[in-house]
Amino acid sequence: MPNIAFLNGRFMPLAQAKVSVEDRGFQFGDGIYELIRTYDGRIFHMEDHLRRLEQSARELGLPMVYSKTRWKEILAKASSRGGFPDAKIYIQITRGVAPRDHSFPKKARPTVLVTVRKMLPLSSELLEKGGAVITVPDIRWGRCDVKSINLLPNILARQKARSSGAFEALFVRDGLVLEGAGSNVFAMIQGRLVTPPKGPAILAGITRDLVSELARKSGDSVVETGITPVDLLAAEEVFLTGTTTEILPIVKVDARTIGDGRPGKTTRRLIHLFRQATRP
Ligand code: PDD
Repeated sequence: MPNIAFLNGRFMPLAQAKVSVEDRGFQFGDGIYELIRTYDGRIFHMEDHLRRLEQSARELGLPMVYSKTRWKEILAKASSRGGFPDAKIYIQITRGVAPRDHSFPKKARPTVLVTVRKMLPLSSELLEKGGAVITVPDIRWGRCDVKSINLLPNILARQKARSSGAFEALFVRDGLVLEGAGSNVFAMIQGRLVTPPKGPAILAGITRDLVSELARKSGDSVVETGITPVDLLAAEEVFLTGTTTEILPIVKVDARTIGDGRPGKTTRRLIHLFRQATRP
């Protein structure tokens, strides 16, 4: 089955999709993105992802290029042309091709790209035993709620994690743990499920919202408040959420063991509920 791309209005094999070297995404990172999953061929929370794409576009003065209805058609077609039951659909909009100049070009047409690839699940060993995270200083900009393609601090943080044998790096700013390089964080602290509040310092994760809702519905008390590194180390349970991460139990933070070193019981219950939500 093919990896496919939709570029500026046309579907093609991914390998044939080419963009100019003067694209502002390439030269400035001047663009936005979304990553959506399919489960058994169904596009998961498409409306929420399109809403967030629209918010990111608005914040950066980028046009959405297509109507919501047209976007839905494009994504459905992309998913069926890809043909993978479990796929990741990547959407990117940049400000387009123009001679290099920081200010917005007067006439550029945005570059719209959608790619579809097979989704490779995380290893079952990682899911069963839980993963490790490290904490790193947050050197990102002040609008982490915008899903910008400028990801250098995230890339450096993730690489640092992987080099030290950890799955993810958690950003710490002003004494608070905010989120991972590509995921949100939850901690069970004194019997309450805590996650940092929405705002400019984190991406409002779609998985985060779904997991909060599943937790509340199944009787957990979910609190959106700051988590200090000390709170995190003392937590009974920690887990990450994200489109590709789903719910990943974390059993080590900066090489210190969380709880009894195994995925906690609330985390395991939420993983079960999440599976029911993704594959009804
Ligand atoms: N990352 N925080 C950050 C910084 C992220 O990049 C992501 C997602 C999340 C989780 O958001 P959601 O649940 O909506 O996927 C939180 C995507 C998957 C990525 O960059 O590939």
